[in-house]
Amino acid sequence: KNGSLLFSPITTKSVTAHNRIVVAPMGMCSANNGYMNDFHLAHLGSLALKGAGTIIMEATAVEPRGRVTPHDVGLWEDGQIAPIQKVAAFIKAQGAVPGLQLNHGGRKGSKGSPFSTTGMRLLHEHEGGWSHDAVSSSDLPMDDRHAKPRALTVDDMLFVKQKWVDAARRADKAGIELLQIHSAHGYLLHSFLSGNVNNRTDQYGGSLENRLRYPLEVIKAVRDVWPAEKSIWVRLSSTDHKNDGTFSKDDNGWDIYQSIEYAKKLKKLGVDVIDCSSGGCLPNIKYPVGPLWQVPFSEIIKREAGIATSAVGLITKGAEAESILQENKADFVCVGRQFLRDSGFALTAARELGVSVKWPNQFERARH
Ligand code: FNR
Repeated sequence: KNGSLLFSPITTKSVTAHNRIVVAPMGMCSANNGYMNDFHLAHLGSLALKGAGTIIMEATAVEPRGRVTPHDVGLWEDGQIAPIQKVAAFIKAQGAVPGLQLNHGGRKGSKGSPFSTTGMRLLHEHEGGWSHDAVSSSDLPMDDRHAKPRALTVDDMLFVKQKWVDAARRADKAGIELLQIHSAHGYLLHSFLSGNVNNRTDQYGGSLENRLRYPLEVIKAVRDVWPAEKSIWVRLSSTDHKNDGTFSKDDNGWDIYQSIEYAKKLKKLGVDVIDCSSGGCLPNIKYPVGPLWQVPFSEIIKREAGIATSAVGLITKGAEAESILQENKADFVCVGRQFLRDSGFALTAARELGVSVKWPNQFERARH
């Protein structure tokens, strides 16, 4: 045994990853009408070839207006299954776990992609946007550069819940083994969780119990159709960072203490792992960004809610990833941008830690 936790296998439900490195979901704004294509196969495929244990495919919209940009991936129709299936099968054939994140962009949707001619501004209908059909828990916009959303009625909420369920079924058909529900970054589910956005006066707003209600209903409905042997993760924003300080209170908004309560309820629903991100809900927040800055959220949620976690955010070195696990601050280490800089990050980390890992047979002659 090599002594490395990072490079030891881990099993959730009946899904085993050969190491604890997870590729963070990262939207590539490269789909056509929600359909994945060769870009996704080459990009994600290379990460699987080069040793990532788990790969979570980017935020995938459960309905067209649930995209963030017109170029997001979707699973709102059956035709979208096949291209995802191709990517999932390739990832699986390399020995990695194919995961996928489902999302509804809510009030943050109808934006241009960063590298399109419009840039990231709000898109109008004639530009392929849906700014008049943006939905949220309330009618509060993110700011005046975002859509003015409509508050979902209870009937609308049932409709959208069914979209999540149908998309989850399609993800299963596509061979996805790990489904991540996106309830972070200010998107639709987060807009219900956070009292900074959710000003509803019905049973879905006000108290923490009420604000948790819709996300929990959606996740329960997804869990009911998701195969019991497959893994199910939830990504949350551990706090809105409304008040200064990682652990500051924001009782009527969204903070780490409420995230712990949410995580406890998710555990009861059979969720396997909480992926602990933060922020994204409010404009003009100064985030205390730095190496490993969100790891304390993972540490406290893991300890207080007694559930497995994934740490994410500016983790860029093998030794950092290893110590997060050794110090029991997370069960998985989720890496985003470093995989864009170095698609072989997993192999780099192994070399840095002096761990001998299997390389693809085709690459073996370059190993030493
Ligand atoms: C992201 N992030 C992100 N998060 C998410 O939950 N779903 C998504 O689709 C995306 N899309 C996305 C695209 C790009 C280009 C970047 C850089 C980021 C956030 C990402 O998953 C991760 O949480 C952050 O990037 C922080 O981790 P790193 O990059 O510091 O390792």
